[in-house]
Amino acid sequence: MKIAVVGGGSTYTPELIDGFARLAPFASEIVLLDPDAARLEVVGGFARRLLRHHGSAASLRWTSDPDDALRGAATVVIQLRVGGQRARISDETFPLVCDCVGQETTGAGGFAKALRTVPVVLDIARRADPGAWIVNFTNPVGIVTRALLDAGYRAAGLCNVAIGFQRRWAAALGVDPSAVTLDHVGLNHLTWERAAYVDGVDRLPAMLASNLDDLAAGVQIPAEVLTSLGSVPSYYLRYFYCHDEVVTEERGKPTRGARVSEIEEQLLQMYADPSLEEKPALLGERGGAFYSEAAVGLIASLHDDDGGIHAVNVRNRGFFPFLSPEAVIETTCRVGSSGAEPVPAPPLRPEQAGLIAAVSAYEELAVEAAVKGGRDRVYRALLTHPLVGQHDKAARLTDELLAANRDHLAWL
Ligand code: G6P
Ligand code: MN
Repeated sequence: MKIAVVGGGSTYTPELIDGFARLAPFASEIVLLDPDAARLEVVGGFARRLLRHHGSAASLRWTSDPDDALRGAATVVIQLRVGGQRARISDETFPLVCDCVGQETTGAGGFAKALRTVPVVLDIARRADPGAWIVNFTNPVGIVTRALLDAGYRAAGLCNVAIGFQRRWAAALGVDPSAVTLDHVGLNHLTWERAAYVDGVDRLPAMLASNLDDLAAGVQIPAEVLTSLGSVPSYYLRYFYCHDEVVTEERGKPTRGARVSEIEEQLLQMYADPSLEEKPALLGERGGAFYSEAAVGLIASLHDDDGGIHAVNVRNRGFFPFLSPEAVIETTCRVGSSGAEPVPAPPLRPEQAGLIAAVSAYEELAVEAAVKGGRDRVYRALLTHPLVGQHDKAARLTDELLAANRDHLAWL
């Protein structure tokens, strides 16, 4: 199978290639696509050594020509970042002028990223083979995946939050990761783990009773939130449950984007060393743990029709009865060659349903703004986002966002 990796010059690419090399015998040809030819040389060279090191028979090459990369690719993994870390740092800072959280995937910052990203991803999808599966890792994953599905492409959105819980909890419970099935529900970066089944028994209540402080510390959310909800929120819910506290913290320290830029510079130096044949430990300082295993598992299920269980971003189609069928949700799914099908789960609590409904309404408006453009559409989406929500903030952030992203929005 030919696999195209869009944004292949990313410093994350070796993580993905490591997964293909170890776990994906079906990958026969891998093509990295990136506009940055110099980065491709460095990352591609190291990716090739990684494949060889693991004894993989797959071939790997790189190109800056989208049609060359995409032609004949049965799977297109999209992991691009429009504007690089510089744009990320902007997303992480401009909302602070209105006392709103600065984050690359959530709130006004995540919206700016969506506006920059959706048109670029749709252009890639348009050039891909009609039958290709698009596995989208590009943030904000829920919005980008919804835009892809709205445009009629075969797409599945992926995030590593669920697999991270599964892997960590399996280790804590002393079982194989495949033995743990999560009741993982919500929207991308707005999810809760409501249960962790091992052999049909939900082990989460006992973990919450015996290990509450560790579970809370792991997501940096107060223990009372976990006990009250009876579930474990992802750490992205900290931006909601502890919003003002995060804003205060952000004012006092450098951005994550600045730190990631430093890590990337060091990683690229390491990758350029021809004797390096294994993933450097420094890569573990990025947030993408288990990302390759999530990707390989999903791609294998889509192509082998193996009915595997994965947390995927899919159309709602009635799974949450209070949301429109077209909304994109993230939940535990059974995956085969016709796509991902949510595994039935109990109804949501009002606390969860309320937040999901509000953020999903924002996501619908965000897709529309990204596809059609226009200041008013940007304002409407911001007014609707529960982390913005007031006229003065929505209006000011609209101006700030448009000014900061002038070079990236074709409709401006
Ligand atoms: C997690 C999220 C990803 C996000 C990443 C950020 O893995 O699920 O969606 O891109 O963290 O990690 P970084 O190292 O870039 O801060
Ligand atoms: Mn994610």
